[in-house]
Amino acid sequence: MIIRSADFVISNSDVKGCPQPRLPEYAFIGRSNVGKSSLINMICQRSKLAKTSGTPGKTQLINHFNINTDWFLVDLPGYGYARASKDQRKEFSRVITDYIGGRPNLMNLFVLIDIRLEPQKIDNEFLQWLGENAIPFVLIFTKCDKLGTNQIQSNLAAYKRHLKQVWDELPPLFLSSAETGLGRDEILNYIEETNKSFDFKSINR
Ligand code: GTP
Ligand code: MG
Repeated sequence: MIIRSADFVISNSDVKGCPQPRLPEYAFIGRSNVGKSSLINMICQRSKLAKTSGTPGKTQLINHFNINTDWFLVDLPGYGYARASKDQRKEFSRVITDYIGGRPNLMNLFVLIDIRLEPQKIDNEFLQWLGENAIPFVLIFTKCDKLGTNQIQSNLAAYKRHLKQVWDELPPLFLSSAETGLGRDEILNYIEETNKSFDFKSINR
């Protein structure tokens, strides 16, 4: 897919303010600092579209971007930001769960995982929650430019073994780097294919 346009639409703290669900939508989620906003910029080839930061907790709202006037990309706040207060964490978690539960046009969640890390409890719990709520997701391993090929393959294999302990069927798994563009074609192909199954009538009844 060619990205002809990528435009910021609106930021919301509440799902009620999000754009009408008239287009298929894809959201990026994962631990704070995992690289959600950077990956959105890489996919859109616009370095400053979504705000990024070396300090965790940068994205605090639900941010909608309109792509090619055909579909939405959504940048979400990260979960598990250790230095957030209890109230802030509660608020982030409310934003995320309300959003996921409240968007009938959400085709798929891209759950981002740092390729360098062992499986994290907070990601496990989040994936478990997605499973219980029958939310379709794809896993994207980020920051692959930080490791060599062998290390990437062995970390990926270890993560798959870990997933197989819980899941009968594995979700699609993609490797990515916001630095090198790795994964861009695969992610866009996936979106292009999934867009075909968007059923406007059933969700806008
Ligand atoms: P929050 O909005 O705080 O939840 O973070 P986020 O997940 O949106 O992360 P963000 O895109 O802001 O990136 C966090 C840090 O990781 C920044 O310093 C980025 O430059 C860096 N980063 C993100 N993706 C990559 C990548 O693929 N490779 C490398 N080397 N650094 C990356
Ligand atoms: Mg962000």
